[in-house]
Amino acid sequence: MSTTVGGYREAYEAARRDPERFWLDAARAIDWISPPSRAFDGSLGIYGRWFPDAVCNTCHNALDRHVAGGRGDQAAILYDSPVTGEKRRITYAEMLDEVRVLAGLMAEMGVSKGDRVLIYMPMIPQALVGMLACARLGAVHSVVFGGFAARELAARIEDAEPKLILAASCGLEPNRIVAYKPLLDEAIGISAHKPEACLIFQRPQAAASLQEGRDRDWAAAVRDAASRGVCADCVPVQATDPAYILYTSGTTGRPKGVIRDTGGHMVALAWSLANLYGIRPGEVFWTASDIGWVVGHSYIVYAPLICGATTVLFEGKPVGTPDAGTFWRICEEYRVVTLFTAPTALRAIRKEDPEGAFVKAHDLSRFRALFLAGERADPDTVAWAERTFGIPVIDHWWQTETGWAICGNPFGLGLLPIKHGSPTVPMPGYILEVLDEGGKPVPAGQMGTLAIKLPLPPGNLPTLWRDDARFKESYLSTFPGYYTTSDAGFIDADGYVFVMGRTDDVINVAGHRLSTGSMEEVLASHPAVAECAVIGVKDALKGEVPAGFVVLKAGSESEVAKVEGELVRHVRDKIGPVAAFKLAIAVGKLPKTRSGKILRGTMKKIADGDDWTMPATIEDPTVFEEITVVLKARGLPE
Ligand code: COA
Ligand code: AMP
Repeated sequence: MSTTVGGYREAYEAARRDPERFWLDAARAIDWISPPSRAFDGSLGIYGRWFPDAVCNTCHNALDRHVAGGRGDQAAILYDSPVTGEKRRITYAEMLDEVRVLAGLMAEMGVSKGDRVLIYMPMIPQALVGMLACARLGAVHSVVFGGFAARELAARIEDAEPKLILAASCGLEPNRIVAYKPLLDEAIGISAHKPEACLIFQRPQAAASLQEGRDRDWAAAVRDAASRGVCADCVPVQATDPAYILYTSGTTGRPKGVIRDTGGHMVALAWSLANLYGIRPGEVFWTASDIGWVVGHSYIVYAPLICGATTVLFEGKPVGTPDAGTFWRICEEYRVVTLFTAPTALRAIRKEDPEGAFVKAHDLSRFRALFLAGERADPDTVAWAERTFGIPVIDHWWQTETGWAICGNPFGLGLLPIKHGSPTVPMPGYILEVLDEGGKPVPAGQMGTLAIKLPLPPGNLPTLWRDDARFKESYLSTFPGYYTTSDAGFIDADGYVFVMGRTDDVINVAGHRLSTGSMEEVLASHPAVAECAVIGVKDALKGEVPAGFVVLKAGSESEVAKVEGELVRHVRDKIGPVAAFKLAIAVGKLPKTRSGKILRGTMKKIADGDDWTMPATIEDPTVFEEITVVLKARGLPE
């Protein structure tokens, strides 16, 4: 494995010394309608805005320019769905045709620049056609992950106020068909905002009933539009205009609407695909995530297409569709050079195939690097993957808010030595510090909060959708002059960053970001619950799973098992199956400080089997004895 420090150090220092020059140079990877005369203006927005005078269109950069440049016959998307058995190779030219027509149809339906379009679709090509059609019109999409329940969908509809909703009739989980339309109808029913129209893509596995006057059949409407020659050109937008809103979990039940701008987004993705992931135009890059997450937005859809690479769209799971060899079958079949997935997926594969028999059965000679993100990559899993594949296994750390990696190992610029447990070093543009509670930088090796000095680099969120106050309060007020990542960690003497866990109520379940606060709201709404606390407990497969401790109201003692079962169903119905909430545990009392604060941190340590000490401020020390006993009865710690 060759390693080099020079390429990275030069790039990082260049971005630090002269960000104007560095990012204007990076911006040359993009076709601008009107190019930026300057990279950054600190007087605009909340902490400044990137490429404030530039005009552009993302769809042009993702499709039109590649077709014009001779990539029309190259595959843009390789769709592979082991859950349906369907495979499709879609070229750049075909993709452009489909997007032009859908965008034309959406324009006829009244969608124009700045309007929001909500997309509630599984991993099928039409979802990408929908996202790019929005980009073509300058409309702002908001994609919602299929594993959320109606109430979560409703919260997003209400906040984004979409004019149009693009949806599919169903998604396919290995064990069931998830009918989307009833969830969508229920969500629209709950939401105070109603969309003007819904375009529904009917999948053969479950047909949706259409509501007269509001819903239209996607395929029929597109056929009709195409027969009339309807199509749309790219609409010029300001680089600072929003490209999309993506909702993510905060500390309360109300999700945060992360905004991505248009120009900075494209520049950051183009820079990172080449220099971090080392992908060249024409190569096949596969991100095994979901378009409902930021990883999917950035590296299934936008980065590979903006760069003229080929992306794999995989509708399946790492195991069980049909087996733990699916990933390697895809890598061989489509000549994947780099795979990006979550550590959970590797843990699931390793559990079924510890000796890598499936890996050996496939030709992975083109496979150059494996990238991991979404949760902490545990050193044991990374070491297993290195042994099994014999290629660099690269952890990188980022968030929905940042849109691309805060820290990574720049494979494209030249790989740095890998340290297990570390996502390596800050990417150019990120000035990362570890701060103590008072906001002072701590010495190397000492834990604190990881904070990014403002301004954030291109591609990061400029604010939250229609909520500047929440943006400032959530991210900028803790440490003035910094963005707080709400991740705790340290930087070692070599400058390597270690990310150890969240400092807030957010937990990470199988690479999915979830709010314990939002689960507590659901538990507290049950009539038998007096009070509750949700914590994330260690799980060998999913990293963490939620556990809800509830104190039941007097009189419910005889119904403990029934209520616990209802609470599990309640969270699934209100938040969705993705919450993976299976542990509701009734206790007599919650551990609290004398001032009434629930001691979640100590509960977590007990559940995880970590060392703990009795907090000095505890109100009643005997409470932990009961917690220890009830956890043991549930097999915890693991
Ligand atoms: N639509 C509807 N339901 C969904 C869904 C979707 N898009 N995605 C997940 N779910 C459901 C699952 O069916 C499951 O339901 P169940 O309780 O009825 O079994 C539940 O949500 C929990 O899903 P998940 O946490 O994914 O667990 P799993 O047991 O189905 O699968 C893994 C385990 C490891 C295979 C899976 O978690 C995985 O692939 N993880 C990788 C995650 C990832 O790529 N994250 C992106 C971050 S970059
Ligand atoms: P999301 O916004 O869904 O991408 O989740 C972001 C959060 O996931 C981060 O704040 C971290 O807590 C966690 N995370 C993502 N990638 C990593 C990583 N490589 N190492 C440690 N934690 C990570």
